[in-house]
Parts: sequence; C-alpha cells; structure tokens
Amino acid sequence: MCHDIERFLTVTFSGIRIGEEPIIKKLLSQCGLYTTDISEKKLINFLVARWGGEIIGTIGIEIVSDNALVRSLAISDKFRGQGVGKNLSTTIEGYARSKGVKNLYLITTTAEIFFAGRGYTLIPQQSAPENVKNLDEFQRFTAKTAVCMYKKLGVGSI
Ligand SMILES: CC(C)(COP(=O)(O)OP(=O)(O)OC[C@H]1O[C@@H](n2cnc3c(N)ncnc32)[C@H](O)[C@@H]1OP(=O)(O)O)[C@@H](O)C(=O)NCCC(=O)NCCS
Repeated sequence: MCHDIERFLTVTFSGIRIGEEPIIKKLLSQCGLYTTDISEKKLINFLVARWGGEIIGTIGIEIVSDNALVRSLAISDKFRGQGVGKNLSTTIEGYARSKGVKNLYLITTTAEIFFAGRGYTLIPQQSAPENVKNLDEFQRFTAKTAVCMYKKLGVGSI
C-alpha cells in the first residue's frame, strides 16, 4: 500500500514529451474536458504531473500577448485531493510569468471554487480581452453556467 505522502513526494512536474498527445487527450476526456482543439503546438505550453511512468495530471496555457487563458486542468481520479492540482496551477503561473504574461483568464463550469482558492476572481465573460475571447477553448463556452475568472500576475507573486 502506498501512503498519500509517499505518493505526493514522488510526483514530478515536467513538459510534455513527443508522442504523449494521445495520453493527454485521454486524461482530459476522462475528466470531462474539451480536447478537439488540442494539438502538438498547443501542448508546448502544457505541463504534466507524473507518478512513476504515469501521467496523472495536466494543465495548459494559451498565450495571447501579455494575456493567457489557463485551461485543461485535470487530475486523474485516484490522485485528487492530494495537492497535485494546486501544484500544477502554481507551476503554470510561474511559467506564464517567465513568458511575460501579466493577466490570466479562465472559463469553467466545474472548478470555480478551486480557482477562487488560488486567487482568481469572477469577472463577466464579456469583459475578458478580445484576444482571449477569440480562443476556441473560450468560445465553446456559451453556457450561462460557465464562469470567467481573472488573476493578475504580480512580480514574484504566486
Ligand atoms: C479540480 C481538480 C483539478 C482539483 O485537483 P486536485 O489535485 O484534486 O486539487 P488539490 O488536491 O490540489 O486541491 C487544492 C484545493 O482545492 C480544493 N479542491 C479540490 N478539488 C476541488 C473541487 N472540485 N471543488 C472545490 N475545491 C476543490 C481542495 O480542497 C484544496 O483546498 P485547500 O487549498 O484549501 O486545501 C480536479 O478535481 C479535477 O481534475 N477535476 C475534473 C476536471 C476539472 O473540472 N478541471 C477544471 C477545468 S477548468
């Protein structure tokens, strides 16, 4: 039996390797998330959490000038509630900052409380910048139940 703490300590974070696109898409699908627009090119700005040889979580950003859309946060069932999602969201923010991103946006029907806990605030969908609203991942959310959230990336903040 593997205790939660042992699992947590052996989770590593990295970029996506060649040939892993189908695995990412499968994980996203299993978590009920959108995969249609995912391509090798988009996956350049994705991170994964690995445990042993297994990909157990992912998150990505789409960068448009100094804005970015945070998307595709998914943790496999058996690894939820152990801080992996929190770790991935913190890590992608550091990466975004390293790419010159100043403003993070996201749109979600499932993770409002999770992201509120990470410092994101609710904003009206229409107030997101045009270059973010034009992204496929944003546009497919026409449902009124989807919420848009925003976080300003300060220098050195998490
Ligand atoms: C939402 C999700 C990514 C959270 O990942 P996770 O690894 O289980 O989250 P963590 O263990 O890092 O939890 C971090 C915090 O969020 C809270 N949390 C976790 N899942 C949550 C949820 N679904 N709703 C509200 N809060 C949640 C935890 O209690 C914890 O709170 P704390 O910081 O006060 O301790 C995961 O449940 C998931 O993959 N869901 C399905 C896909 C999805 O909806 N993705 C979001 C797309 S925008």
